Amino acid sequence: MRAALLSAADAVPAYVEHPEPVATGRHEVVVDVLAAALHHLTRSRATGAHYSSAGTFPRVPGVDAVVRDPSGRLRYVVLDDTDRGTFAERTVIDERRSVVLPDDVDPVEIAAAMNPGMSSWIALRRRIDFVAGQRVLVVGATGAAGSMAVQVAKHLGASRVIAAGRNAERLGQLPALGADETCGLDDLARAADVDVVLDYLWGEPAAAGMVAILTARTDRRAPLTWVQIGSIAGATAPVPSVALRSAKLQIVGSGIGSLGPDEILPELPALAAAVRDGAVALPFREVPLADVATAWVQDSAERVVLVP
Ligand SMILES: NC(=O)c1ccc[n+]([C@@H]2O[C@H](COP(=O)([O-])OP(=O)(O)OC[C@H]3O[C@@H](n4cnc5c(N)ncnc54)[C@H](OP(=O)(O)O)[C@@H]3O)[C@@H](O)[C@H]2O)c1
Repeated sequence: MRAALLSAADAVPAYVEHPEPVATGRHEVVVDVLAAALHHLTRSRATGAHYSSAGTFPRVPGVDAVVRDPSGRLRYVVLDDTDRGTFAERTVIDERRSVVLPDDVDPVEIAAAMNPGMSSWIALRRRIDFVAGQRVLVVGATGAAGSMAVQVAKHLGASRVIAAGRNAERLGQLPALGADETCGLDDLARAADVDVVLDYLWGEPAAAGMVAILTARTDRRAPLTWVQIGSIAGATAPVPSVALRSAKLQIVGSGIGSLGPDEILPELPALAAAVRDGAVALPFREVPLADVATAWVQDSAERVVLVP
């Protein structure tokens, strides 16, 4: 079969002939890959940069995909760290790490949306005690995951969603996706009275924004839950101790490890249905797997989905 193969962390995947995958474990099954997205986790796990990656080479990258199983059912699968990824015509999955999808979904659209969409979906549904009617601030709302977070928060019942980011043009598109208000990262005091922050940036913008929000807060005893989801602006953030003392602030992270597969997977059919029904959406671009080398090094405004 044909597959993308990464020989080293700093290499570009080559489109090569590769041995057929073989199922060995009790719950393993060989599946046809229909669509697999190229997102931050794909890259960071492939190169060994992600905390959940062993960084072994050579490896077929790709951490998730929409696949067809031997009985013809569509599944969305999230793989454990493996050198047998989803950027291939076929791969091996552990059925317990997959969910069956309705027959009427678009595999490419689902592949594009699931990783960025689940970041906010599982954070709100599983990581914190979010309830409908709460106000949500999305920090870093201009990216794929952030723009989906705006839509997911609204879909799950947020009464008000404020979208913050540095890219003015992308911010301008977010009211059409459900944002009630948008603001720059130096203007987060405008979101002083939110209940939940979904933070995709971390780093300096998060630390500065936290202080700005807490300082301007009407009632500092009103709980504020800051959910750390992405760290695209910095792996560490200089959070001043007073931020934690002067207000009822709680900082939690949401991602692989803080939530297990048993908590994440049951949420995915509802997210897939929301994508299918158009309640949440993400622009995507379908690219043949044969063009993986070009896609790997190219910046794209749309989420790239590789199709074998
Ligand atoms: N924990 C989870 O479950 C989970 C799931 C999915 C994603 N993530 C993480 O979430 C983050 C975002 O992912 P994504 O897929 O949305 O990425 P993306 O589509 O590439 O978007 C990144 C966004 O961040 C902005 N940005 C980059 N550096 C910035 C900085 N220094 N200050 C302010 N804004 C900055 C970019 O704005 P410009 O347009 O101005 O460059 C862009 O809008 C990543 O760290 C990713 O690993 C976590």
